[in-house]
Amino acid sequence: GAAVEVDISSIKPGEKMTVEWRGKPVWIVRRTPEQLASLPKVDALLADPKSERKPDELTPAYARNENRSIKPETLVVVGICSHLGCSPSDKFQPGAQPSLPDDWAGGFLCPCHGSTFDMAGRVYKNKPAPDNLEVPPHTYLSDTRLLIG
Ligand code: FES
Repeated sequence: GAAVEVDISSIKPGEKMTVEWRGKPVWIVRRTPEQLASLPKVDALLADPKSERKPDELTPAYARNENRSIKPETLVVVGICSHLGCSPSDKFQPGAQPSLPDDWAGGFLCPCHGSTFDMAGRVYKNKPAPDNLEVPPHTYLSDTRLLIG
């Protein structure tokens, strides 16, 4: 079928792996403790911090939590901007761009029109992208094997 099985054991903290699922790039990011700790701090800056918009389309019930994930450290999102479909760049750090918030703790920046997303793929307010990045349907077959789709 269309599901993709991935061995995620080689992803180190702070790293991202990209796999293709239904022709789309899916990012698997192993977040550091610091990145996880930063998530609640940016809630007020986000358009949809609790991932309440289009829940069935964008955030399955099992990822409707602060980390937007099943395992706290492992983020699984489709790497396509909800504005016009560009693919955001990786983990820009504080000071990397003058337009980013001062307390930017790392996240993703869309090069097309400047939308920014946090380390859970949640979009910042007042950006062209209306929605958070999509969390695709996924399950764990074991600690290190992920099934997407
Ligand atoms: Fe990403 Fe426009 S396509 S901001």
